[in-house]
Amino acid sequence: MTSVCCFQLKVNPTSSISKPQTHLRFNPSTFALPSSSYSKSGEPQPLYSSVKSFAPATVANLGPGFDFLGCAVDGIGDYVNLRIDPEVHPGEVSISHISGAGSKLSKNPLWNCAGIAAIAVMKMLKVRSVGLSLSLEKGLPLGSGLGSSAASAAAAAVAVNELFGGPLSTSELVIAGLESEAKVSGYHADNVAPSILGGFVLIRSYDPLELMQLKFPHDKNLFFVLVNPEFEAPTKKMRAALPPEITMSHHVWNSSQAGALVASVLQGDLNGLGKALSSDKIVEPRRAPLIPGMGAVKKAAIEAGAFGCTISGAGPTAVAVTDNEERGREIGERMVEAFMKEGNLKALAMVKQLDRVGARLVSSVPR
Ligand code: HSE
Repeated sequence: MTSVCCFQLKVNPTSSISKPQTHLRFNPSTFALPSSSYSKSGEPQPLYSSVKSFAPATVANLGPGFDFLGCAVDGIGDYVNLRIDPEVHPGEVSISHISGAGSKLSKNPLWNCAGIAAIAVMKMLKVRSVGLSLSLEKGLPLGSGLGSSAASAAAAAVAVNELFGGPLSTSELVIAGLESEAKVSGYHADNVAPSILGGFVLIRSYDPLELMQLKFPHDKNLFFVLVNPEFEAPTKKMRAALPPEITMSHHVWNSSQAGALVASVLQGDLNGLGKALSSDKIVEPRRAPLIPGMGAVKKAAIEAGAFGCTISGAGPTAVAVTDNEERGREIGERMVEAFMKEGNLKALAMVKQLDRVGARLVSSVPR
């Protein structure tokens, strides 16, 4: 990937499903960059002295798609500014600044989502001769269920890759982002993959990593109503609440709903999508009671005309879907009221569309 335009996957126009390049888990001994990216010392050369990248928020799970389905939403996300810094030890990353909603985050790159992903990409590229300084603008609240950690990781992975001319594939960047997710929230790619690729992404396999991008028809309107209450639901804690085993009947039910969800996405069938989104019998029933008012919020969304509603990612954000922006605002108001009335929680509602682009370069300064 050498520019923003090439960042999107090549999609077969006759097919609704595109399959990104797939890779085994990253293995440095078998990994090779295109020869044009190497210097004589066998290291890629930076094309830019600094770059700025953006990665969108994501809604993971989408009901029955726990850990294997997610989508990107437009207009909200994290930014990373990255520059070559002679004061940083060659081959290393330093985090110079964190702004926005990330004041609680560690500036130690080994414990910061953006830092971990940046280091992973540098290792993949075998960068040894320059050090990088990274600053993170957090547009997403932490522990919100909107893929906050994944957006930081995705923006950082893309920034490092683009600084060196974009030699890595999107799948490799997802692997770098997964390293970060595994450390901070759990080994799941349903936030970081759509944040990098955009649109709806299905993780068909983790080992080897195999991703499928599901094309939602361009001529259909899809609005996500995202209602974020003032409540933190750390992903690790929300994952610990899940059952270690499930019954065969729940397996059959959730699998059929997940199949219906995928079919509905491909057909642009909002009614079917919403119905499937609302149908999870395994994860949502364990998590909803941990988020004050969530049951009432879901009921309020459906009563206000949403096609469906569930917990976004690990929560506490609730996500509902509709085909009309104005109705989306009304649904959001009803959901905010329900969070206050039944959960005693203040909440903010946003109405967003699908982000079909994914993480991208925003600006760059040539060397
Ligand atoms: N699939 C993950 C979970 C997403 O539900 O735990 C976290 O945002």
